[in-house]
Amino acid sequence: MEYRKPTFDDIEDIYDLVIEYANDGVMLARSRNTLYETIRDMIVAVNEEGNVVGVGALHIIWAELAEVRTMAVSPAVIRQGIGAEIVRRLLQEGRALGVKRFFTLTYKPGFFQTLGFKTITKNELPHKVWKDCIECPKFPNCDEIAMELDESGEGKAASDLQWEM
Ligand SMILES: CC(C)(COP(=O)(O)OP(=O)(O)OC[C@H]1O[C@@H](n2cnc3c(N)ncnc32)[C@H](O)[C@@H]1OP(=O)(O)O)[C@@H](O)C(=O)NCCC(=O)NCCS
Repeated sequence: MEYRKPTFDDIEDIYDLVIEYANDGVMLARSRNTLYETIRDMIVAVNEEGNVVGVGALHIIWAELAEVRTMAVSPAVIRQGIGAEIVRRLLQEGRALGVKRFFTLTYKPGFFQTLGFKTITKNELPHKVWKDCIECPKFPNCDEIAMELDESGEGKAASDLQWEM
């Protein structure tokens, strides 16, 4: 399995992977527009045939704060460690930038728990996080679970960060 940054040629494969799960209601859909705009956020897993079989993204929200999102692994290859490897690489990218707090909104808390994320209440997340949620058909009745990986060593909630808005 190769893990790398996606190219424009991968966008249709990523779109297909995500839309399949989104149609089943297990994750949020991402438009092609969003995928192109956030291409640098993503890491893909590519199999020996050159097909994208996994994707994940790290989206910077503010200083030291980033969201792990758009996690999807092809049904044919789930539970083989691909999702976990994508998250580990996303966390490395974030740490290199100085991210101290990672969070996610998920329907699969068990997966993120194995990676050290802990459940938090949604109001521990800053309002800026909800900017993208306005586009979601479920807004404002979000039923995703908020989880955080806090590496700040300060034990603070993300909402305690200083905002200059
Ligand atoms: C969630 C998802 C990305 C996980 O990817 P994956 O490659 O299957 O995950 P991994 O094999 O790396 O799993 C690592 C560990 O996480 C845990 N885990 C994985 N999927 C889990 C699940 N559905 N429920 C509970 N724990 C899970 C397991 O402990 C697993 O280790 P194990 O298989 O040795 O027990 C994948 O199942 C997926 O694409 N699901 C559909 C889309 C989705 O729900 N995305 C999340 C957005 S909210």
